Amino acid sequence: MTCISAIYGSPRRKGNTAALLKHAVQGARDAGAQVEEIVLRDLKISPCLEIYGCKESGRCVIKDDFHKVCDMIAASDAVILASPIFFYTVSAHTKILMDRCQSLWVKKYWIDKTPFAGQQQAKRKGLFISVGATKGKKLFDGTLLSVRYFFDVLDTELWKSLLYRGLDFEGDILKHPEYLNEAYQAGKALADA
Ligand SMILES: Cc1cc2nc3c(=O)[nH]c(=O)nc-3n(C[C@H](O)[C@H](O)[C@H](O)COP(=O)(O)O)c2cc1C
Repeated sequence: MTCISAIYGSPRRKGNTAALLKHAVQGARDAGAQVEEIVLRDLKISPCLEIYGCKESGRCVIKDDFHKVCDMIAASDAVILASPIFFYTVSAHTKILMDRCQSLWVKKYWIDKTPFAGQQQAKRKGLFISVGATKGKKLFDGTLLSVRYFFDVLDTELWKSLLYRGLDFEGDILKHPEYLNEAYQAGKALADA
């Protein structure tokens, strides 16, 4: 059975990315996948302290919920990450998780000396879902770069991204059932991929 980690990166429980991710999760479950939902705002995860306590073993020395998330992702075949755009990047909750994964980067590139292969050696497939209020052409450019390299550290290829502009207030996404359906279909396809 395909096992998927679904990461809710917005501080809003019922916001636009949360609704999209819920639909993707439902699609994946309907296709037979087992999905673990990770709500970052409910977890205690410190920002990276840049002390490189991970230098010897590749394991972060800060004791908090990061390890739970890390273990869940390690046990999964695919990852879905949903984050709103905050100042042209991901939310703070999401960025904190990304930065803590520097310990995995240390393990991969410093300790194991894995040659950089980009997406070629990826074990997992990743779906990224994002929403921003504005409509600029470059709205997602910086974020996509961050997500691509974050996924690389998780041995995950950016398999698909669903990016929606012009959605600001909680519930705005409900005016676009076609976006919710796209998320549902993407979750289903990810489970089958
Ligand atoms: C702190 C903060 C920063 C934001 N920065 C941007 C931004 O740079 N560009 C943009 O288009 N929207 C920005 N927004 C709007 C959110 O992306 C938008 O409200 C989105 O729908 C929120 O998704 P959510 O409901 O899943 O949290 C920002 C909102 C907040 C609260």
